[in-house]
Amino acid sequence: MSTTTTPDLFTPITPGDLTLPNRIVMAPLTRNRAAMPGNVPQAMNVTYYAQRASAGLIIAEATQVSPEGIGYPATPGIHSDEQVRGWQQITGAVHAKGGLMFLQLWYCGRISHPDLLPDQQQPVSASAIKPAGEAVTFEGMKPYVEPRALRTEEIPGVVAQYRHAAARAKEAGFDGVEIHAANGYLLDQFLRDGSNRRDDEYGGSLENRSRLLLEVLAAVLESWPAARVGVRISPENSFNDMHDSDPQATFNYVANALSGKGLGYLHVVEGDMMKGEGVLDYRQIREQFDGYYMANNGYDKARAQAAIAANATDMVSFGKPFIANPDLVERYRQDAPLNTPDPETFYGGDEKGYIDYPALD
Ligand code: PHB
Repeated sequence: MSTTTTPDLFTPITPGDLTLPNRIVMAPLTRNRAAMPGNVPQAMNVTYYAQRASAGLIIAEATQVSPEGIGYPATPGIHSDEQVRGWQQITGAVHAKGGLMFLQLWYCGRISHPDLLPDQQQPVSASAIKPAGEAVTFEGMKPYVEPRALRTEEIPGVVAQYRHAAARAKEAGFDGVEIHAANGYLLDQFLRDGSNRRDDEYGGSLENRSRLLLEVLAAVLESWPAARVGVRISPENSFNDMHDSDPQATFNYVANALSGKGLGYLHVVEGDMMKGEGVLDYRQIREQFDGYYMANNGYDKARAQAAIAANATDMVSFGKPFIANPDLVERYRQDAPLNTPDPETFYGGDEKGYIDYPALD
């Protein structure tokens, strides 16, 4: 930190060649409002993101890298021409309002269902371990099925899907990409030993469990400068039936392995999305990583300011507050009252609960 004054949420920050005007980041938020068929970004999505362009950075909702990567109805993709054209409308509108926007690259793996996949395929994962819980399908909730363990020789094909998607994100006009290695989706299924029992070079040791993430990162770096790439992890989030026998060691290792590359940031879902605050020492994870740290999960303004003042984080991403407050940055600046998010309209539906939350006058 080159400045002598203590930074706060409103202090610009410069990962690489980008200057974020503030440290209030819009977290990636699944809203299931892409146009069907085709999972294509559409007009109401343009309005929604443009309304939130004053965020220091917008991280777009999780977006499947390929038809095989999907796990929910009406989530957008970044693999077809139509999807790229849809995203171009969004990035253009955000840029016109002075905003910055990254795309989150997503492959759901076992958190999917044959009903959602091409040719009713069986979902894939690190190992054939069925998660507890139910998939969201077009016909309502259905129990997860046992996934098929990816064969070693299939893995380069998965990496190639990320390579292609990263290049398409550039065509779509994004300022960067975030690799989704959190919350129990495919890359996380490899990282944590509750879902990875492989005995090839992608399982067992921490080096092996991190291999797929690092191969995906290398493929993404073929089309993006490192400073335009972030990675998201969720060390102790039990969401999607995830578990690791030693999350502190696992994610200290992962954070260290992501260092030395000049990445834009490490985005960390702290604690547990289901249970709240966790028990890990996130400062260790932060210290293992040599770039900026972005904290997430349940922060409000006061907690975020305290975390930045204590040098526990560099930036904070906000989810639900951004759903309900398109002008969250201005409201935080003024200490203005916040709109209340309506969970009934989080996932799917129309413009209600999506683009009708009011800004301040
Ligand atoms: C969700 O659809 O609930 C969801 C998607 C991506 C995440 C977390 C939750 O990373």
